[in-house]
Amino acid sequence: MSNISVEEFFDKVLTVRLTPDRQALDIIDQTLLPGTIRRISLNTKEEIWEAIKKLRVRGAPAIGVSAAYGMAVLASRYQTDDFETFAKLFKADKDYLATSRPTAVNLFWALDRMESTLMASRGKSIPEIREILYNEADRIQAEDVQISRSIGEIGFGLLKDLKKDGKPVGIETHCNAGTLATAKYGTATAPMYIALEHGWKGTDMHVYCDETRPLLQGARLTSFEVASAGITTTVQCDNMASSLMRAGKIDIIFVGCDRVARNGDFANKIGTSGLAIIAKHYGIPFYVCAPSSTIDMNTPSGDQIPIEMRDPDEVTEMWYKERMAPKDVNVYNPAFDVTDHSLITGMITEKGLCTAPYDEAFRRIGL
Ligand code: MRU
Repeated sequence: MSNISVEEFFDKVLTVRLTPDRQALDIIDQTLLPGTIRRISLNTKEEIWEAIKKLRVRGAPAIGVSAAYGMAVLASRYQTDDFETFAKLFKADKDYLATSRPTAVNLFWALDRMESTLMASRGKSIPEIREILYNEADRIQAEDVQISRSIGEIGFGLLKDLKKDGKPVGIETHCNAGTLATAKYGTATAPMYIALEHGWKGTDMHVYCDETRPLLQGARLTSFEVASAGITTTVQCDNMASSLMRAGKIDIIFVGCDRVARNGDFANKIGTSGLAIIAKHYGIPFYVCAPSSTIDMNTPSGDQIPIEMRDPDEVTEMWYKERMAPKDVNVYNPAFDVTDHSLITGMITEKGLCTAPYDEAFRRIGL
């Protein structure tokens, strides 16, 4: 991968697209990375559901884009000319896909947006409506690219302020909020890609990727992406963050988010809140990269964000040659945690940098 340009890389790992006949989703199977780059087709609603549930496609924005394309594909097959019957079938598929994962609000946001598009199309012919749904999914994908770019520009402004004495800027990130989690630039990685576009060299930054137990999105996905872009990259276990910060290696932290509550509390991959607590201790700026589609004004605080609990085997068996915990031991495996808004330096949205009080800041950007 190291001989290809960043643009070629983006193309190669494009997270979600339609097959040429538009009858299936074509995704890169993220469970196989970084060893195997394999694209798979998702033809049925069960396959789309399974791919989201099993993290073949993952990351809040990418889940939203997949759900949107999924609905367009499924709706293209409804055998009816009657709008009410069409809408009923659509609602049933939408409700089914909504059960795949509970935390990332982008899933529900994208499904609702597709349904609103459908309902606004009442009176048009069914072939026209099918086309409108495909177009809306394309729009969600295209908007995501622009959103990431805008977040990247703001984040790059912060990086520029930290570049001094020819030393690389030390950036820590958690999980994967990168290309694979979005339609192109990622959110937490967008400032790095924008920095390259502005002429920074890969050696001007040093990206420290938290391994991110138990599913290793940082080690398997983020380090693969960032290193492929030619940026100096290091992977460390999650419990090494404090050691890194104490050693003065980290200038700034960028993370993604799966759902932001109205007061600025946010859910992101398990381990994020610990990282924020450590960063606060060492006085290191901690930024959340948050597309406005991830901000849920209907959720008052982090206490109301539903947190997905996952299979115990991800902790005790996955990745190991043999089981690493006694057979019947209890396992605690939440996929996400909630970080208190008081620990955040700021939240970078595509519409601007938000700081506390967050509810007011979110209203100022039109939410
Ligand atoms: O369980 P995952 O891998 O879907 O979790 C992903 C994250 O926590 C990301 O940080 C978040 O979705 C933001 S992606 C831009």
